Amino acid sequence: MHAKIAVLPGDGIGPEVTTEAVALLQVVAEVYGHQFEFEQGLIGGSAIDDAGTPLPDATLALAKASQGVLLGAVGGPKWDKEPASRRPETGLLGLRKGLEVFANLRPITVFPELVDASPLKREVVDGVDMLIVRELTGGLYFGQPRGRSAGKGGIEVVDTLQYSEHEIRRILQLGFEIASQRSGNLTSVDKANVLESSRVWRELAEAMAVDYPGVTLSHQLVDSAAMQIVQNPKRFDVVVTENLFGDILSDEAAVITGSIGLLPSASLGAGGPGIYEPIHGSAPDIAGKGVANPLATMLSCAMLLRHSLSLEVEAQVIEEAVKRVLAEGARTADLAGQSIGSTGNSPIGTQEMAKR
Ligand code: NAI
Ligand code: MG
Repeated sequence: MHAKIAVLPGDGIGPEVTTEAVALLQVVAEVYGHQFEFEQGLIGGSAIDDAGTPLPDATLALAKASQGVLLGAVGGPKWDKEPASRRPETGLLGLRKGLEVFANLRPITVFPELVDASPLKREVVDGVDMLIVRELTGGLYFGQPRGRSAGKGGIEVVDTLQYSEHEIRRILQLGFEIASQRSGNLTSVDKANVLESSRVWRELAEAMAVDYPGVTLSHQLVDSAAMQIVQNPKRFDVVVTENLFGDILSDEAAVITGSIGLLPSASLGAGGPGIYEPIHGSAPDIAGKGVANPLATMLSCAMLLRHSLSLEVEAQVIEEAVKRVLAEGARTADLAGQSIGSTGNSPIGTQEMAKR
């Protein structure tokens, strides 16, 4: 297969982890006889420095012309004083909007070797393997009207949770499709006891369930889901939910695994290229030191191969390799935790981890 992959390293540890990820994809290409063409683009703070804008037109054009976008991370203290329109995050939001990636997939997998890395009890986290499907381009973050005005009692402010039937259907459909390829257990999370948008969401989910006899659909209120995610995460397989709910629940669920340096994500649209990135940020505190954990970005490559290139075997090979290096005891500093010093196990660097 020949595929063009856009590489947007961004800021902080972004360039370090994407360099290792590209090297990994090159190895996969050699072994499996594919040709991956990588082209780099600017995004975030480094794009502000070099091109005066966090999302140059050339970057968006490059992304649109590729089959998948591999992204590092954006942001850092250097650009914190920039006005909103010129902040590094604006580049990332612009890219998501520009590619219309309406679904954010975040797998939450606990590796058996790392059950003690989580602040939760071993018996609670052992064996967790869930996937959050978060709606990414609608809902409370984009609804109109929004903004503030002067009222009698001071400031009046409004945000709107708005969806079209089309937007709800396409994210639910993806949830059903993915659930039917996994255990068949789909939890739709809403706030249907209060919100009209959630009641419509529920009705549409119920209607769609008829088309997926192999999927067991259940509904859960978001507040109760938040509790269950830390009390009994094993009851979840695929979770599909609104933008804000998914933003909060996916960060909460990330805690189950113990390290932010391990978690990948995929943002998918309707047929266009997906964006694949680690869920962590640019980690300015460790940038340039060569100690960042590259596994989240490497697992994001596996998602790229699976979702944008339909290379399931190659994707699984990467996931198995990550399991293997963890089983062999390889740990970057974020995973070595308290054992550093006390046991004499010294953590390894970004490049060394990647080479395993
Ligand atoms: P962060 O995720 O960058 O870092 C949080 C903590 O986790 C830090 O102690 C960091 O050293 C550690 N960490 C993160 N990734 C790691 C890895 N791969 N290996 C080892 N340790 C790792 O979040 P923070 O500190 O809140 O934000 C830093 C900057 O990143 C900010 O400018 C923020 O806006 C930006 N950010 C960007 C995101 C993106 O590009 N998608 C997402 C989150 C934050
Ligand atoms: Mg968030």
